[in-house]
Amino acid sequence: MRYAYLVLFFFLVTAISVLGFRGSTTTRPPLEIFPDMDHQAKYKPQAESAFFADKRTDRPSPAGSVAFGRTAIQSDGNFLAADDHMYRGTQADGTYARGFPSSITVDGKLLERGQLKYTIYCAPCHGAIGDGNGITKQYGMGATPTYHDERLRNIPEGDIYHTITAGKNNMLSYADKLEPADRWAVVAYVRALQRAQTGTVADVPSSHKSELGLK
Ligand code: HEC
Repeated sequence: MRYAYLVLFFFLVTAISVLGFRGSTTTRPPLEIFPDMDHQAKYKPQAESAFFADKRTDRPSPAGSVAFGRTAIQSDGNFLAADDHMYRGTQADGTYARGFPSSITVDGKLLERGQLKYTIYCAPCHGAIGDGNGITKQYGMGATPTYHDERLRNIPEGDIYHTITAGKNNMLSYADKLEPADRWAVVAYVRALQRAQTGTVADVPSSHKSELGLK
């Protein structure tokens, strides 16, 4: 029995010593048995330096330094990404730009690149011809629009670029999969798909007309 009282006493003392001092404050520095790396020689922001002649610890950037940063939007190594048309699809007044950025050459090579990327990333939903009937429609993704309506035929290229970069509603962003130049390649291919739906016999070069049984 005396043993039980001892155990109870022990627990009481332990409980009070641990819980009883919670919340009390002290101005004395804590006992640091293991100081780890709490105290290191370092300069605090805006503090005075004894080392530099001008006494500034915050060093001014060296002449000719170039701003550096990286985001999903500018993942192609152009760290400044200063070209709004190229990297954001916008023009000076902030609205979407029509046409392609000056650094993008729209040629057969670009369209081939666009076709490759479109087939990988867009065709599953938008379909190989851009009519919105990709394989995902059969699995319940009903909201994918066709590119072949008046509104999407007329939206600026920069708007399509922005949809690829940022996504739209049920469509996710493709910024992590397509670098800016590839996004423009896909934009060009989307334009080609749209153009393909409105082709007429007049578009066929005369050298190829005979293949179609025309004069
Ligand atoms: C997972 C399915 C899916 C994939 C993959 C996909 N999209 Fe979409 N896309 C959608 C859906 C859904 C919408 C309709 C969004 C809305 O307006 O609600 C859409 C809308 C669009 C629009 C019209 C935007 C507007 O202004 O109304 C464009 C252009 C477009 N997608 C291009 C692309 C391109 C280019 C790719 C490939 C890089 C792509 N999409 C990949 C599902 C997809």
